[in-house]
Amino acid sequence: MCKGSPAHVAIIMDGNGRWGKKRGISRSEGHYAGSKRMEEIIDASIELGINVLTLYAFSSENWSRPHDEVKYLMDLPVRFFHKKLPEFMKRNIQIRISGNLTPVPGKTREVLEKAVTSTANNTGMIVNFAFNYGGRGDIVHAAKMLMEEVRNGKISEEDITEKKLQQCLYTGDLPSPDMVIRTGGERRLSNFLLWQSAESELYFSDVHFPDFTGEMFAKAIGQQLGKRYLSG
Ligand code: FPP
Repeated sequence: MCKGSPAHVAIIMDGNGRWGKKRGISRSEGHYAGSKRMEEIIDASIELGINVLTLYAFSSENWSRPHDEVKYLMDLPVRFFHKKLPEFMKRNIQIRISGNLTPVPGKTREVLEKAVTSTANNTGMIVNFAFNYGGRGDIVHAAKMLMEEVRNGKISEEDITEKKLQQCLYTGDLPSPDMVIRTGGERRLSNFLLWQSAESELYFSDVHFPDFTGEMFAKAIGQQLGKRYLSG
């Protein structure tokens, strides 16, 4: 019998900036091309029967990029969800956010929160955007939550187990990723899902994310897309 698709796949969508530079266009235009490719990967994930897709959309380290690029990356979700949210509702997709939205500009934060709340009762595939996310920050955030629970007398120190800490991570009740894919040629995790990827298979592709097709994605997870998908 054929092996099925993994339940949870996470992607480090790297190489947008270099993709733009190679074409003599801006890094931001590279991010736009990346966002279009991201749409294709979401479609492919549905077709392949993946339960959870986590996408590294903005890392806690990305704030140090040039102001214009950060602004573009903050505006992108506004444009994206304006167009895609009605479709996600129709397709029963649930949106989650992993990360700290407190420092995120109001408009972007509102759009992301609205996407989460309006899709909360959807029961289909979960698309989890890691936004202002860092793996170390995730663990510190979970440790603080546990400390608070001990302080309030809700739990005692003995109740702190790996399982308990894992539940306090931004990914909460989601299963750990079976596979982490990184495009763009670098072979490292860059502070992505550090705790959650302890047992994950790692897959690296030299292809810049805007060129990483649905077919390449399917191949990475050992699957093939159906004819219906390929014929558009
Ligand atoms: C890394 O490439 C990629 C990012 C910092 C952003 C990725 C975001 C998207 C693909 C779209 C997100 C869209 C929504 C709606 C949330 P890089 O710029 O580090 O590439 P480089 O290594 O070539 O410089």
